[in-house]
Amino acid sequence: MKEGPLLSAEVISFLNINKDGFYIDATAGMGYLSEVILNELGEKGNLLMTDLDKELCSLLKKNEIFRDSRITIENADYCDMPALLKSKNLPAADGILFDFGVGTYQLNSERGFSFMKDDFLDMRYNSGGAGPKAWDVVNSFPEKELAGIIYEFGEERRSRRIAKSIVEERKKHPIDSASQLADIIKKCARGGKTHPATKTFQALRIFVNSEMDNVRKVFSFLQEILKPGGRAVFLTFHSIEDRIVKTELKKLASDGAIELLTKKAVKATHAQSRIQPRARSIRLRAAQIT
Ligand SMILES: C[S@@+](CC[C@H](N)C(=O)[O-])C[C@H]1O[C@@H](n2cnc3c(N)ncnc32)[C@H](O)[C@@H]1O
Repeated sequence: MKEGPLLSAEVISFLNINKDGFYIDATAGMGYLSEVILNELGEKGNLLMTDLDKELCSLLKKNEIFRDSRITIENADYCDMPALLKSKNLPAADGILFDFGVGTYQLNSERGFSFMKDDFLDMRYNSGGAGPKAWDVVNSFPEKELAGIIYEFGEERRSRRIAKSIVEERKKHPIDSASQLADIIKKCARGGKTHPATKTFQALRIFVNSEMDNVRKVFSFLQEILKPGGRAVFLTFHSIEDRIVKTELKKLASDGAIELLTKKAVKATHAQSRIQPRARSIRLRAAQIT
């Protein structure tokens, strides 16, 4: 099997890279996929890497691989892509990649993304930015609202029970750390193949970062940031995200704005899924501007 980030061969194939073209990795993360794109570019090619995580962008800028004259790294929200291109005097791109969701960098960070660790419950990609932290949601949101968030963004059927336990526990003392929250959930929602806190943590992260609203916004400016014939590739990890991508692409295709390149979502192979269980949830969809 080919080594490298999951579905990287498919990402490259759907981006249909022109070696002198201008490409955007809108969710650069650790830059594994950026590196794969960079390897396809010639001397005149260019790559813009953006990520909302400031800490991560500083690390990327220090990485030898990305100290390349063809690369620009920007700490930016992909929702602001049209304004960013304008302010940097950059043209419409030949291709853009979105790899939505949380990355390994955040999961290993000390910002409360992982229920395995004793970190403060922040969970914002742009830590230090405005907007509520996971701590605020857990410690101050009304029980009903908390249950709604856990149900909607975690697809957790035990959401009411979990919200009730959180509210009972926070009356005694604030729930400060990820592991503290995971223990509360473990006590009230046992069983299942994965850790009982998995879905609640997913829900809090998605809510705190307005992830689904952000995914939806992309489709309002896709035509503005890509050239005619330009390609967009979307990698999702949750069924909720994939549903949004699928629906929004269908709308654009029926308006004649894009041509759908994936009638069905592309999945990881059986072999990839055996090696990396995470691979089972990944879906790739792609489109070309008409
Ligand atoms: C799944 S990771 C990307 C992994 C990356 N493809 C790699 O090869 O390492 C998703 C990244 O998107 C970033 N992100 C989330 N929301 C964002 C937004 N609105 N704008 C820009 N980046 C965002 C996160 O900070 C995270 O680093």
